[in-house]
Parts: sequence; structure tokens; C-alpha cells
Amino acid sequence: MIDRSLFAMFRNNPNLTYLDNAATTYKPDSVIEAISHFYSHDYATVGRGIYQLSERATQRYEEVRAQVAEFIGAKANEIIFTRGATDGLNLVATAWGGSIISQGDEVVVTELEHHSNLIPWQQLCQQKGAKLRFIPVTDQGELDLTSLDQIINDRTKLVALSCASNVTGLPVEIDPVVRAARAVGACVVIDAAQFGPHHRIDVKRIDCDFLAISGHKMFGPMGIGVLYARESRHSQMAPYQFGGGMVFDANLEKATWLKAPHKFEAGTESVAQVIGLGATIDFMNKHINFDELARHEASLCARLIDGLSTIKSMKVLGNSKLLRQSGHLVSFYHDNIHPHDIAAQLDKYNIAVRAGHHCAQPLINRFGVSGTVRASFAIYNSLEEVDRLLEALTSIIG
Ligand code: ALA
Repeated sequence: MIDRSLFAMFRNNPNLTYLDNAATTYKPDSVIEAISHFYSHDYATVGRGIYQLSERATQRYEEVRAQVAEFIGAKANEIIFTRGATDGLNLVATAWGGSIISQGDEVVVTELEHHSNLIPWQQLCQQKGAKLRFIPVTDQGELDLTSLDQIINDRTKLVALSCASNVTGLPVEIDPVVRAARAVGACVVIDAAQFGPHHRIDVKRIDCDFLAISGHKMFGPMGIGVLYARESRHSQMAPYQFGGGMVFDANLEKATWLKAPHKFEAGTESVAQVIGLGATIDFMNKHINFDELARHEASLCARLIDGLSTIKSMKVLGNSKLLRQSGHLVSFYHDNIHPHDIAAQLDKYNIAVRAGHHCAQPLINRFGVSGTVRASFAIYNSLEEVDRLLEALTSIIG
């Protein structure tokens, strides 16, 4: 779907079949060049230097904030730069949850969550004496909403869920959950780490209070993420970390804070990564039509599922029919061969996949498997690569 020569990793590794995009994606040259240009020509901290270079860096940093806001349908002051989706979710748990959640409250997540959208809520509930409740998943890997009106109730203060799974590869039916949360006045937190690389994000349409994404999973730099924080929630949030850059006034005994988003960006900001993120959004705006991308990735899933069905004792996790229509990855397993062994063998064919529990141990346990092999796709993957994977699997498994 895209010219692979735009990516140095493919030029430098022409024989590589890279199918681990749910873990991280490759960077187009334009992103690498934007970072390199900043370090070589424009390097300075932001928000503190009284000299032209720093003022220019500050301006660019804030321009990217506005660019991200436009990209996801938010206002610039609702965009907090983080280290990634995990950092963003921890920020919400600490800054909002730490201020608002108290004993007897309930927090709701789903059984689909990877650890980043589970453990922060476990910790919060343990610290506050709150109860963590779960929306179950069906054997097909979809949310089981039959008891939603009991799980989300008057005691529910926060509902946190992913809008696409890193294990099943399907978009999640979040609308009924968001509506149920809204009906009881609960705060809605969306983990869009797996959704952002494949679909247009619109925070207004989703109607969430917080939404976290990772730059490196959507062709951007590592170490940068975005947390959308709805403006009406800002006054309920305590600082996440303390230090320079977030203080309005300080004396030896106490301090006051700047307004959001700066209140949540303590310390020297990741300016190079933010500038790289700006180039990433330019790249996505120029090269990605999300409808075409969804069709392309679903066609890769369909080809892989068809091929896997011809390999003895190989099974696909989750709803194959839906994966063929809207999947962005396929998780599969063999009855007798451990997924790590399959992945290690595939590596000998220069095929990179992830294998194991995918940092979602409760979900993997729910399916009663030891783990899966996961082939996850992006805009630069092709049907030929799926065929290469299938040929290698056939040789390995026989
Ligand atoms: N959640 C990331 C993955 O699925 C780390 O690989």
C-alpha cells in the first residue's frame, strides 16, 4: 500500500518480513530527518530559554500540540505529552484517580485489557479500598455485555477500556460501554494504543474523558505519547510529577502549579520526540486513507486465516469472521508446539512476529492457551509477506 523505500529499516533489511507492528512500527525517513534536523540545527529546551533558539523550539513544540489536537478532534490545552500510552494511563490513575477515587467506589475494566490498562487500576483500587470490576469476554474474544447494567452502576466512578485489542486484533465495541458509563456519570478512559495506527481517532465522537496513544506504534518516535484529557476534568486532577516546567510559583514551603497541559509535563520536555511526532502526523495525513488501510489490513488477515486453516492443528484465536472484515492482526496457536518455538523458527526465515502472552496474561488465561503467535500488520505489509509467513509455517510444522 505504500512505497517501502520511504523507510530506512526496509532499505537496510531488504529480506526482512516484519510482522510485529502491534509492538512497534518502523519510522519513515521524514520522521527520522525531522528529529535529526532538530538535534543538528534547532536544538534547545522549551519554555524556559530567553533566546531565539529556545523560542523557536517552544513555538514548534506548541505547534505540534495543536497539530495533535486537530488530528484527534481535541483542543490544544487538552493534549498532554507523555512517554507513551502506559505513561498516559498511569497519569490518569495517579492524577485523576488519586484525587477522586475513594473507599467503596468501583472501577470497571474489561477482560481484554493488556497490562498497561489493567495494573494501574489494580494498584489504584488497592490503595483506595475501591473495587475493580470486569466486563467479561466471550469465547470469540468480544465483550460480553449481557450484565453491563450490573457491572456499571451508581458506584462506578471510572470505566477504562481499549478500543482495539493487541491480542485478538479486533476493534472493540466501545459505544454501549461508554453510554452506560455516561449514564451513571463515570469517567471514561480509552486506551487507543492499538486503535490509533489503524483508525481515525475522534475524541468527541467517542465521548471519552481521557484517551492514550503511543507515538512509536504509529510510525513515530519511541518515548513519546499523547494523553487527551477533557478540559472539564482538569480541575479534578492533581499533578502527576513535580519539578521544573510545571510550577507557577514556589517558595521554600510550598508551590502552585501552571494550568494543564503544562501542569502535567514536569522536567525537561521530550522536544525531539515531539517534533518527530509532528512529522509523523504529517506522514499519516499524506499517506494514510484509514478506510483503505482497514480494507488492506483485513485482506492480509483473511489471507493468513485461509492459509492457517490448511495447517494441521493450527488455530486462530478469536472471531475469524470479524478478523476478515476488520482485523489488523491475527493471533494463532498450535495444539502441540509452543508459540515461542514457532517464533524462534520463523526468525530463521527472517520473519519477525511476537509470541507469548502479549502483556495480556489474564486474557490469554481466559482463552486457556499458553500463548499465541501474533502476526500484526501495518500500511507497508503485503500479501506476499503473508504468503512467506505461511510457507515458513508449513515448512516448520510440516
Ligand atoms: N502492547 C504491546 C504489544 O502488544 C507491547 O506488543
